[in-house]
Amino acid sequence: MGFSFEVDRTAEGGGRRGRLKVPHGVVETPVFMPVGTAASVKAVPQSLLEEVGAGGKGAQIILANTYHLYLRPGHELVRRMGGVHRFMSWERPMLTDSGGFQVFSLSKLRKITPKGVEFRSHLDGSKHFFSPEHSMDVQIALGADIAMVFDECVETPATWERTRESMGLTHAWAQRSKDHFELHKDRVPWFSERQEQTQSLFGIVQGGMYADLRKESAERLVEMDLPGYAIGGLAVGEPREVTREMIARTLEHLPKDKPRYVMGVGYPDEIEEYARMSVDMMDCVLPTRAGRHGLLFTSEGRLNIKKKEYAEDQGPIDPACGCIVCRRYTRAYLRHLFASGEPLSAVLNSVHNIAFYLDTMERVRRDLAGVGEAS
Ligand code: GUN
Ligand code: ZN
Repeated sequence: MGFSFEVDRTAEGGGRRGRLKVPHGVVETPVFMPVGTAASVKAVPQSLLEEVGAGGKGAQIILANTYHLYLRPGHELVRRMGGVHRFMSWERPMLTDSGGFQVFSLSKLRKITPKGVEFRSHLDGSKHFFSPEHSMDVQIALGADIAMVFDECVETPATWERTRESMGLTHAWAQRSKDHFELHKDRVPWFSERQEQTQSLFGIVQGGMYADLRKESAERLVEMDLPGYAIGGLAVGEPREVTREMIARTLEHLPKDKPRYVMGVGYPDEIEEYARMSVDMMDCVLPTRAGRHGLLFTSEGRLNIKKKEYAEDQGPIDPACGCIVCRRYTRAYLRHLFASGEPLSAVLNSVHNIAFYLDTMERVRRDLAGVGEAS
């Protein structure tokens, strides 16, 4: 209980406009989810997240990471604080990634066995063990609306044999994730407060850069009858055409009546392209990470605020953007903040980039809904 997905309209190219209902609210799809790794969308206060971009609607759903919150402050502490929503004062929908991908990309000395993965914390070198069961326990304690199965993301490049072996492990772990999740999902911190609604668990398709493995992985996960499916293992260094091809080859094998989520993508033009290919959900650290490095996304392409040419530029970041940063501050001021290492630089750059991503998806949603089309 506590989950539904409806498609309102499917456009000619396959993209669809829909609605995802989870215990903390309704999400209009396709949607971009800002990443709040450690229960914080870096440099962006919750109040701004709620109102910047998408015509003032702000972010509808954000993502947090199991790996980070397990290590610090600890999932049991978050549970005692009422779950991650209450802890960070974000009462809109949330999703947690399972920790699989982060263990593989951030931690050292990993030892993978069929049971799970042993790793050392990137914070203090301490030893930890994650299994599918443990990832579910942690995600249930955190209490996001959507949890993800524990998966292995194969290194790239990887041979077909190596990718298939890794994919097999991911499938076994997905089944174990589901079995454990079903037994314990009523332990989310807000279960009784929310009329016994609970979390939902999404699967993750792997299969690397091999279309036949992507098909096999999608089919195997669809058999598990999960409420939504993610496409993982992408944007790990492969050329963009390959990413697109793998997404397309995977989408063919996913049910049309369930949400499709591509993990960890991408640039603004990519998220638009994938949304038009029928991807319903995406997340990426890019708007905030790039913002902290002075890279700003605009309707005319990328802009690096560091550049000398902006030193006395009285214009906004993007004249076509109506965000609070573009309405108030000049490129000259933003360049000065960046050059001076002022913390406000990260805040304002991130706020604009998030607004730009959310506006991009709002525009795509309107297009897919057929707004403005002749009847
Ligand atoms: N984030 C980006 N890619 C992946 C992936 O393949 N698996 C998980 N769990 N998270 C991701
Ligand atoms: Zn702006």
